Amino acid sequence: MSNKPIGIFDSGVGGTSIWKEIHALLPFENTIYLADSKNAPYGPKGKERIIELSIKNTEFLLERGCKIIVVACNTATTNAIKVLRESYDVPFIGIEPAIKPAALLSKTKVVGILATKGTLSSDLFNKTSDLFASGIEIIEQDGEGIVPLIEEGKLESEEMTDLLKLYLNPMINADIDYLVLGCSHYPYLIPELLKILPNDVKIIDSGEAVAIQTKEILKRNNLLNMQKTHVSNEFITNANPSILSNILGNECNVTVKDF
Ligand code: DGL
Repeated sequence: MSNKPIGIFDSGVGGTSIWKEIHALLPFENTIYLADSKNAPYGPKGKERIIELSIKNTEFLLERGCKIIVVACNTATTNAIKVLRESYDVPFIGIEPAIKPAALLSKTKVVGILATKGTLSSDLFNKTSDLFASGIEIIEQDGEGIVPLIEEGKLESEEMTDLLKLYLNPMINADIDYLVLGCSHYPYLIPELLKILPNDVKIIDSGEAVAIQTKEILKRNNLLNMQKTHVSNEFITNANPSILSNILGNECNVTVKDF
């Protein structure tokens, strides 16, 4: 049993979509969320750089006593989680695009996936996709430009709408019935996506599954927090804190640190 914090990191503000799921399922856990917005986006960076940044973030969280690390970034998970698991003793939870449920549920047998270049080109993603998507056409789209707009707070902007239409229209024309969100920033776009997608296209993301897995692994390792008082949720960024505060609501305290 441990009241040490759960450490969560992402290339920026997007992983808060995962933090929200974890906090809803495990409200008595202490958490530290790290937004590496200074180095966002990770998507176009090479594997080596993504590993380097993931190690830096992990060490920052381990120095603060985290008992488990949630890599709340598909790009970091698919490129770096193997190295992280081999290098540190704490359990790691990652996030990967939910190709499996989409492929199982699809009736049109055409599934769209929007993710970063780093995720789509990773071995881990390609292995999962080969394993679960036989007989299914997967339309992969690199969401280049989306993460920087979210990091600038431009969720509802003309630029965003134009980019989303550009990326989604070929999928819509190909008759997808599921759209997989393969980046933890993208759940914040769901209201915008729903304006563009036909009514019968369903959106799948992996946030809830990550929270369930986090709880399961904490339980299995006897690491759940049994103290139900004084819960602390810390949010740390190395860039402009206002975007993180806006996304979280002003009651969450955001600290700026150079890491
Ligand atoms: N939230 C990250 C992900 O899930 C965004 C990656 C990026 O910074 O490009 O992939």
